[in-house]
Amino acid sequence: MREGPGQAGRAYARGDVTMKAEILKMLREADGYISGQQICEKLGVSRTAVWKVMRQLREEGYQVEAVRNRGYHIAGTPDILTKEELESVMTTRWAGRNVVYYDETDSTNLRVKQIGDAGAPEGTLAVADMQTAGRGRRGRAWESPPASSIYMSILLRPDIAPEKAPMLTLVMACSVAEGIMDCEDVAVQIKWPNDIIIKGKKLVGILTEMSSQVDYINHVTVGVGINVNMTGFPEEIKETATSLRIETGHMVRRSSLIAAIMKRLEGNYEIFLGTGDLSGMMEKYGRMLVNLNREVLILGEGEPYRALALGITKTGELIVRREDGSEEEIFAGEVSVRGVYGYV
Ligand code: BTN
Repeated sequence: MREGPGQAGRAYARGDVTMKAEILKMLREADGYISGQQICEKLGVSRTAVWKVMRQLREEGYQVEAVRNRGYHIAGTPDILTKEELESVMTTRWAGRNVVYYDETDSTNLRVKQIGDAGAPEGTLAVADMQTAGRGRRGRAWESPPASSIYMSILLRPDIAPEKAPMLTLVMACSVAEGIMDCEDVAVQIKWPNDIIIKGKKLVGILTEMSSQVDYINHVTVGVGINVNMTGFPEEIKETATSLRIETGHMVRRSSLIAAIMKRLEGNYEIFLGTGDLSGMMEKYGRMLVNLNREVLILGEGEPYRALALGITKTGELIVRREDGSEEEIFAGEVSVRGVYGYV
């Protein structure tokens, strides 16, 4: 079984990724050109095998140049999403190390739930280029067109009480926000508890689902949808949604972004398991919280009411001050929060 966060560190073994992923990694890491001979020796494969992989890579859209007496060089990598591409960019120990990739699937959350039930290791990541039944929070659908977005779900097996599982959504929100800012020069914020926004518009949605007994978690699926290279949105959401391409003005490589998020998640999740709460992340979460010191509208079962958002607790509730001066902690599952004048 693959190393999980709770187990002592086993080094990442080469056998975990395919030869194509290894070659891609070597091409990217090469300072200039890398000779066919070097690749053959390192991987213990024939020249013909290497040549065949280079041909496949070109067919997939990679710009692989071959120069006599120098070797191979990768000139540019377009936005390609395959299992091998993802394996070649991943730098984690366990998060996203086992990748299951789909050109098309119903919902990556459903796929992860199924492979989780079948015993897949913690950190298994399902990624799809498109979803036919993408699911959002509160029973809504999540628009999932092809070739433009990230749809991914990770399998976690935390040894915590089931009532602590909602905190994992905030751990993921923090990791996605940090991962995006590691890759792109944009300022993203978190709308409590887990929407990620840029300039007041939604960029990312997170859906956490759990399979558990009364006092024991079988597994948790944390699904993330990121609007990456879309240039427009359906009428119903076009006022409140945005994409990284719209905000940065350029195409973003989805594989690199996924790898950056997995790297952040691995660190944040281990901190979370260490403390059993969000105390190790509260400060940075608070810095990214768009609601901080703003008036919000609390929409629960009763009458909606206005309050001032003061921050989060170490278990992830939003602390608000009502107009009468009383303070309370809002649980994410029970209410939704809007800005007084709109989405934020
Ligand atoms: C939201 O409503 O804000 C949450 C949206 C979550 C969408 C992602 S896309 C990948 C994963 N698979 C799904 O079906 N949903 C989540």
